Amino acid sequence: MTREEWLKTAAVIATGAALPKGVLAQFLAASDEIKRSDFGKDFVWGTATASYQIEGAWNEDGKGESIWDNFTHRKGGRKIKTRENGDTACDFYHRYEGDIEMMRKMNIPASRFSISWSRILPDGTGRVNQKGIDFYKRVIEKCHKEGIEPWVTCYHWDLPQALQNKGGWTNRDILGWFEEYVSLCAKSFGDSVKKWMVFNEPMAFVGGGYLIGLHAPGIFGFKSFYKATHHVTMSHAVGGKVLKNLVKDGDIGTTYSCSPIDSVSHNALDMRAAKQADAFLNRMYIEPVLGMGYPTKDLPALRHVEKYMKADDEKNIVFDFDFIGIQNYTRTVAQYLGIVPILNAINVPPKKLGQVTEMNWEVYPEGIYRVLKQFADYKQIKRLYVTENGAAFPDVLENNTVNDTQRTQFLKDYLKNVLKAKNEGVNVEGYFVWSFMDNFEWAEGYKPRFGLVYNDFKTQQRTIKNSGKWYSNFLAEK
Ligand code: FCB
Repeated sequence: MTREEWLKTAAVIATGAALPKGVLAQFLAASDEIKRSDFGKDFVWGTATASYQIEGAWNEDGKGESIWDNFTHRKGGRKIKTRENGDTACDFYHRYEGDIEMMRKMNIPASRFSISWSRILPDGTGRVNQKGIDFYKRVIEKCHKEGIEPWVTCYHWDLPQALQNKGGWTNRDILGWFEEYVSLCAKSFGDSVKKWMVFNEPMAFVGGGYLIGLHAPGIFGFKSFYKATHHVTMSHAVGGKVLKNLVKDGDIGTTYSCSPIDSVSHNALDMRAAKQADAFLNRMYIEPVLGMGYPTKDLPALRHVEKYMKADDEKNIVFDFDFIGIQNYTRTVAQYLGIVPILNAINVPPKKLGQVTEMNWEVYPEGIYRVLKQFADYKQIKRLYVTENGAAFPDVLENNTVNDTQRTQFLKDYLKNVLKAKNEGVNVEGYFVWSFMDNFEWAEGYKPRFGLVYNDFKTQQRTIKNSGKWYSNFLAEK
């Protein structure tokens, strides 16, 4: 049904006239449809990836070891559920040209990707690896050639192992190391990249890497978590200032993992557990940066972070970002459990709540609306982008086709909620699907497939899934 037909039918319905059954069904189906133009012509559309998850070439052309190389190789790979690693991943290092051409064929206007710190500074600081710099220059140039705007994340979790050997994010010296790294990024690529993000999801890599040990560098402990938290939070401003100063006309942001939080009951303990979970999952990394301090009132355990604060930190931690990236997949339903450290809460098993994805994350489209509203309430935030959203489902490649209807439905339903927030005045100006193609999903290995493009990891053969075809048709409408 064309837009005109749809409008005509809507007008007929408005007069109260009866419609033939078939037309009515078509009308209802079409009215469910979401269109690119609903979001306005300046809305940014893209897909997202990260260096370690796609590049491979882990030790090629002078690249240094990262904490993810080290972690996945440790104990014969036993740190990863499937015992796999990112040594080859999607081999994007050698196949970037074809991949970026595919993005163009799919009408994707923007590509979010990250730089591997140890590819350009193998030891973390000091010696520059020119071949690494040249690789990213080629990628950026290819994006421009195909009419795709590069959106670059400085840090998507792959710290150089040489720096981890000195304590990584638990060592306050990292403020200087990070400044050196981000300066090199800005000087090398700042002429041709204007969209920058300092961090990808601090809670995910500090919580995963320095608290529960599930992600690299695999540390389990509270002290390491509190220390790393403070240094990462401080580094927002370190990176942000460098990019502001060195990138002419730069648009500088950073991204957060966000989850709407519900309480399992109205019982006071469960309600408090939900409040603590919100402070922990959504607020503790952004509020100090916005000048509000750590939310210690709602999460008393954060007093431990304050031990690592020095004079002037409260002032220097603040940075005025041009935009904030929201990344949402699911929601959290909290239930009180006193013995759980920091949080005194557990997450109600998602399977009890409704449909789940391959990650065992609840499908909860309204969640993206709720986090957008929640973040829009911070008056300091100027603009929001959804810098990641997507889902892993058990895809099957048959006759060169992946009929992933669940993913297409997921994307449509989440997008409707983005639009709802936008129509209610939330300043959300873009949306990136995670991910362009199937890739290495951290501790889960290659099993969860998040891509719009299917990747056969044995042959590196790419096949656009039906969800990818849907997205490219959606994007074709100008
Ligand atoms: C996010 C990460 C991204 C990817 C998705 C599924 O937390 O930023 O790298 O793994 O989850």
